[in-house]
Amino acid sequence: MKSSDPRAYLERQREAIDQYLLQLLEPGEEPTLLREAMRYSVTAGGKRLRPLLTIAAAETFGLSGQRVLPVACALELIHTYSLIHDDLPAMDDSALRRGRPTCHRVYGEAAAILAGDALLTLAFELVAGYGLREGCFERALQISLELARASGRRGMVGGQLLDLESEGRMIGLSELERIDSCKTGALLQVAVRCGAIAAGASPAVLKALSGYGSCLGLAFQITDDLLDLEGDAAEMGKEVGADRAREKATFPALLGAEAARKRTEELYHQALVYLNELERPAGLLQELARQLVFRNK
Ligand code: IPE
Ligand code: IPE
Ligand code: MG
Ligand code: MG
Ligand code: MG
Repeated sequence: MKSSDPRAYLERQREAIDQYLLQLLEPGEEPTLLREAMRYSVTAGGKRLRPLLTIAAAETFGLSGQRVLPVACALELIHTYSLIHDDLPAMDDSALRRGRPTCHRVYGEAAAILAGDALLTLAFELVAGYGLREGCFERALQISLELARASGRRGMVGGQLLDLESEGRMIGLSELERIDSCKTGALLQVAVRCGAIAAGASPAVLKALSGYGSCLGLAFQITDDLLDLEGDAAEMGKEVGADRAREKATFPALLGAEAARKRTEELYHQALVYLNELERPAGLLQELARQLVFRNK
């Protein structure tokens, strides 16, 4: 049940997400090494912001967080896969993630790559199972379609390639916005949309939520880049200073930290303007916007 205190409600949902993911990755017939690598990364913690966006959007349009949990967790599985691959030596070559040594450092590169692959396919298994169980075939198909698009060549995966290609190059602001919107924004935006689609929201609502998600997606990556520059590694559970070392194209590198911070604030306010278009109470989505943009990890 939705509580009048959005923060407390989201905290409870965060626990429900953790619980669901834990159960999902209980031992079955898969190879032990694969299961352990998957569990290691998924259960290492993480803010769970994408599944919370899905739940918040669903709740806003009358569908309970409990019902939409499989879809929400599909988002988290895709996100975790993207982190495992992002950390690989061929990509950002990171040693620390979610407060632990990265997946490939513990289980080896092959198992880490395959754990990522298996998390991605498991995400679509969850969505299909949800559709069959709930009898909401069209909505589940729409969710699959949007998830696939946002995660794939023209979304996260494409953005990750552009991000790597941008290393050591000075690129312009619009190109940087495009990279960030693809590699990070697309998944955050679709997280919101999936919750609303599951709840049967109208095209006009989806349009407003897309605006909200797109502003937050970009603001989220700029904040991530600022934290890489100014954050605390112990707090964040991942390395800092890595972007500068790899000469990544980032907002702070291009505009300076102050201007980058100002941009996140503008995007945050713009996201709230989109929420006003919903013409209904959107306390959960407001609270998540705040947690996404004004964070220290
Ligand atoms: C980190 O995402 C990677 C980016 C897309 C910037 P999060 O900051 O959401 O990472 P977790 O899930 O909390 O570990
Ligand atoms: C990652 O961006 C975006 C993904 C799609 C995973 P970063 O490379 O900046 O994320 P961190 O800083 O390693 O978490
Ligand atoms: Mg990266
Ligand atoms: Mg990285
Ligand atoms: Mg980063």
